Amino acid sequence: MTAEYDKRKVAEQPQFYGRRRGRKLRPAQELALHQGMEEYALPSAELKASSLDPQQWFPKNCKQMCLEIGFGGGEHLAARASQNPDHGYIGAEPFVNGVASLCRHIKEQHLENIRIWNDDVRLLLPHLASSSLDAVYILFPDPWPKSRHAARRILQPEMLEMLSDKMRVGAELLLASDDPTAKSWLLATACRDDRFTWLANSPSDWRQPPADWPGTRYMRKAEIAGRTSVWFRFCRR
Ligand SMILES: C[S@@+](CC[C@H](N)C(=O)[O-])C[C@H]1O[C@@H](n2cnc3c(N)ncnc32)[C@H](O)[C@@H]1O
Repeated sequence: MTAEYDKRKVAEQPQFYGRRRGRKLRPAQELALHQGMEEYALPSAELKASSLDPQQWFPKNCKQMCLEIGFGGGEHLAARASQNPDHGYIGAEPFVNGVASLCRHIKEQHLENIRIWNDDVRLLLPHLASSSLDAVYILFPDPWPKSRHAARRILQPEMLEMLSDKMRVGAELLLASDDPTAKSWLLATACRDDRFTWLANSPSDWRQPPADWPGTRYMRKAEIAGRTSVWFRFCRR
């Protein structure tokens, strides 16, 4: 391997600016994490390949394949998986305490239709087959409100380009936030991409959550603090 090649590899690695660790895990959380990762983690060795069909990671054929980017504590992902046992759910989250929390939800609710990518989603997405996703959720992403940190926001034109390849025509992209900067950023960035159509006809379409919305931890924090959330539903054209 030449030095030149090495440098290119480093440059290709996306930089993750969030937290990977929080409070020290209690022994029960460590155990749930360990057992959960053994059972539900995506096999990272396979990710050397490309065009992977996510169906192969699930025991049963999934009617729909859904991806949540930044699932936090996993409450939304677990609730969706419980609502739709015939769908497959992939959750991406580098924050280990969040992954441990999702592992606990999976165990407590006996869910079989979740697989976990415990790292930056940008390392997973390039390996998925085109048109392999039916829904993508980006819920209450870190707002990075300072404009000099705008490049750290998860929704970027490059991310939408990647998603437009991995999502089938008609697939749904759900974006939600309670933060003023993030609301404008999410809407403007997605509206600028003509591969996605905003599914809104009236204000109630973004002021009210979609049907069967189970909520997320950050949405509840926003409610308690009196902040108003919005939900932007887009469709892959
Ligand atoms: C503000 S939290 C919201 C968590 C959850 N969606 C909720 O609403 O409760 C944003 C999450 O996105 C995760 N995140 C940020 N960048 C990410 C990336 N590139 N890939 C996967 N997750 C990411 C962070 O680790 C963090 O847990």
